Amino acid sequence: MTDLVAIARSLFAPGKGILAADESVHSATTRLAAYGIAATPEMRRQYRDLFLGAENIEQYLSGAILFEETLDQKGDDKKLFASSLSLRGIAPGIKVDLGTEPFPESAKELITSGLIGLPERLEKYKKQGSVFTKWRAVYRIDGDHLPSPQAIHENAKRLANYAKEVQAAGLVPIVETDVLIEGKHSRSRSRMVLEQVFGALFSVLAEYAVDKASVILKTAMALSGSENQKKDSPEEAAEDTLAALLGHVPRQLAGIVFLSGGQEPAQATENLAAICRLAREKGAPWPLSFSYARALQDEALALWKGKAENVPAAREAFLERLAKISAAVSP
Ligand code: G3H
Repeated sequence: MTDLVAIARSLFAPGKGILAADESVHSATTRLAAYGIAATPEMRRQYRDLFLGAENIEQYLSGAILFEETLDQKGDDKKLFASSLSLRGIAPGIKVDLGTEPFPESAKELITSGLIGLPERLEKYKKQGSVFTKWRAVYRIDGDHLPSPQAIHENAKRLANYAKEVQAAGLVPIVETDVLIEGKHSRSRSRMVLEQVFGALFSVLAEYAVDKASVILKTAMALSGSENQKKDSPEEAAEDTLAALLGHVPRQLAGIVFLSGGQEPAQATENLAAICRLAREKGAPWPLSFSYARALQDEALALWKGKAENVPAAREAFLERLAKISAAVSP
């Protein structure tokens, strides 16, 4: 039988974290378009290879989350991406939700879909080498009204259903609570929403008897909204983020990773370092690390521009940022 707890814990090797390279075709197209790159399947393959094929990433990465398309693709080394990651000791993971759809009970909110046919897809992903999975629920803050308790509860139920199915399939679930930074909200409102989201999620996970010890939480930090004038110091972000986690996340969880959520790479690095420092001071019960997409990729993409001659400089920038983020989570 697969030891899911051991797999989950191995993702928290000291100084290591997870690269989120799981943008859907739609998100990857938008991301690449921002740098003037047309997203054909071959350009998306080169985009993945830029990061997954970089030398020495195993020094900083315990895992990489992939998108379904990437599982069928090969790197420039002619090996399937999942195989070459495994050979370098980086666990391949897979995003298994199918994106969001409007929530019927509250038209302005989104709910994550993908439970129908999930067991069959999990079987296929496992055969292709995946050992862990991710499901992302997204919450937009609007005043004191959104997210609604109904949307929070429905997302919690779907996250718990997903986690249960994934454990039954012999894979580790990452439950992602992406409270968006977009908006005018204060940091305390962001913290309050995180608390509501964690409260609902962990009560439904318990109700569904999901084994907490092999669950990883991937979450946003408590931050002021991007349209709020207030710029949080790393210490302020750490204080509120840790308070929300310590008050609502069970100690048995395998660990917690953070998403970067549109923060600048340096800000995402400094905030993470402050959160990890404070967690050590407070004796937080879980290991903490990163699972960044944009904060790890943006500097490299700006240099790459889709051109082969720019690959070495882009990879150097990626490795530099990885080293800094790894230092932020190092004990
Ligand atoms: O689902 C979101 C990604 O896995 C993390 O992306 O670091 O760009 O927020 P981000």
